[in-house]
Amino acid sequence: MAEMTAIAAVDRRWGIGRDGGLLLSLPPDLRRFKALTLGHTVVMGRRTFQSLPGGHGLPGRRNLVLTRTPGCPLPGAEAVSLSTLLALCAREDGEIFVIGGQSVYELLLPHCRAARITRIEADLGPADVFFPDLDSAPDWRLVSRTETERCEGAAFYYADYERIR
Ligand SMILES: NC(=O)c1ccc[n+]([C@@H]2O[C@H](COP(=O)([O-])OP(=O)(O)OC[C@H]3O[C@@H](n4cnc5c(N)ncnc54)[C@H](OP(=O)(O)O)[C@@H]3O)[C@@H](O)[C@H]2O)c1
Repeated sequence: MAEMTAIAAVDRRWGIGRDGGLLLSLPPDLRRFKALTLGHTVVMGRRTFQSLPGGHGLPGRRNLVLTRTPGCPLPGAEAVSLSTLLALCAREDGEIFVIGGQSVYELLLPHCRAARITRIEADLGPADVFFPDLDSAPDWRLVSRTETERCEGAAFYYADYERIR
């Protein structure tokens, strides 16, 4: 059975994006995202897919896109429904990364065992999409975090959470 892990970059208020894009792109975070997900399956919502650079799936990964829109063009990716995705998880091994956005985090977090969160210690302006606040969630706990680093004026650290029930 494959395990699902959520991965996201959030600001101080757990904001993840605005106007269909990210709040901030931090090069070290993008490199870490690539290193963690390369060779694995990633699953995302159709809007996040459409925000990817180049308008196609992430190279070196199997890209699954949740959509209810039949025939939606998804170059470099496969359309899936929730039931197809859960069947695939039950049948396959390895790790599947849930890469956003808000609607897909909310949908799939109950199926995730872990969450790898980049915590950007800033309010990056008003977000219109959010990751669920895991610090207030009774079924999640923080298991580790790194020291705070700085890049392009932003302070950030990596936090690993685990679902406890
Ligand atoms: N900071 C981060 O780490 C991060 C990561 C990823 C994304 N983001 C940001 O998040 C925002 C996008 O998030 P979002 O919530 O607006 O959109 P989203 O979750 O990326 O995509 C929403 C779409 O996914 C499909 N979908 C959702 N639930 C489904 C289900 N149960 N079954 C089938 N299809 C389903 C629907 O597609 P159809 O309409 O085609 O049916 C829906 O419109 C952007 O601003 C993006 O930049 C941030």
